[in-house]
Amino acid sequence: MAFFRTKKQAGEAELDLSRLPKHIGIIMDGNGRWAKKRGLPRTAGHAAGAETFRTIAYHCRDLGIPYLTVYAFSTENWKRPAEEVSAIMDLLRKYLLEALEKMQKDGFRIRFLGDVTVLPEELRELCLETVSVGNQVDAKYQINVCLNYGGRDEIIRAAKAWARDVAEGRVQAEDLDEAAFSRYLDSRGVPDPDLIIRPSGELRLSNFLPWQSAYAEFYFTDVLWPDFDGKVLNEAIIDYQKRSRRFGGI
Ligand code: IPE
Ligand code: IPE
Ligand code: MG
Repeated sequence: MAFFRTKKQAGEAELDLSRLPKHIGIIMDGNGRWAKKRGLPRTAGHAAGAETFRTIAYHCRDLGIPYLTVYAFSTENWKRPAEEVSAIMDLLRKYLLEALEKMQKDGFRIRFLGDVTVLPEELRELCLETVSVGNQVDAKYQINVCLNYGGRDEIIRAAKAWARDVAEGRVQAEDLDEAAFSRYLDSRGVPDPDLIIRPSGELRLSNFLPWQSAYAEFYFTDVLWPDFDGKVLNEAIIDYQKRSRRFGGI
């Protein structure tokens, strides 16, 4: 999608394409409230949110941002009514099937963060296939889908895997450092997010990337996820570009 600006408004900032974040994380929130406002079932909000995901994924790719991580379903979201969970799983299946067909042609790869081993059989198989097809794509752009993801769960699973390696003599406990531990996380190989965006007005992480976000910049907006678009994303990036990231230095 292209954005046409007839005339630059006074004071309006422009996106600096030479200083884009390398990795954006998005907590795709507000689907339920979007539907409620329209007198629709919550599942209609999830369907609209899934469309927004596709739009934003291509927008990031077209800007030249190498990594996008989206929070699709948390370890806590199982608390929702079974019908809502199953509607979300159906949507995930639909969009993954579409992605599977388009990855090669459109030059992107999908990976998953979270424990996909406990997902419904068909979806689990689809995740595995998506990863294996994605591995064969020479992609400049990677989408990480957080699916049955919780940051604490990710850290606990990583700690267990590391403890097993210590017990079986593959690594030495004394050698553990931040870089070594990062390699046990689902996000291994992916640089930390530079910018984390949460729509819908909530000001919290809700267990999204707690380890990886230690030095991320945050952008919050009241826009509900189904109403989110390329313009809002650009505004978030422009805001990010105004900030001074010191990482503890001066
Ligand atoms: C985010 O939208 C989607 C998921 C958590 C799966 P919500 O469903 O949380 O929408 P709200 O927060 O109830 O509006
Ligand atoms: C976070 O949103 C999870 C996803 C967007 C997938 P929630 O709606 O589940 O978070 P809380 O309950 O408002 O913290
Ligand atoms: Mg929510």
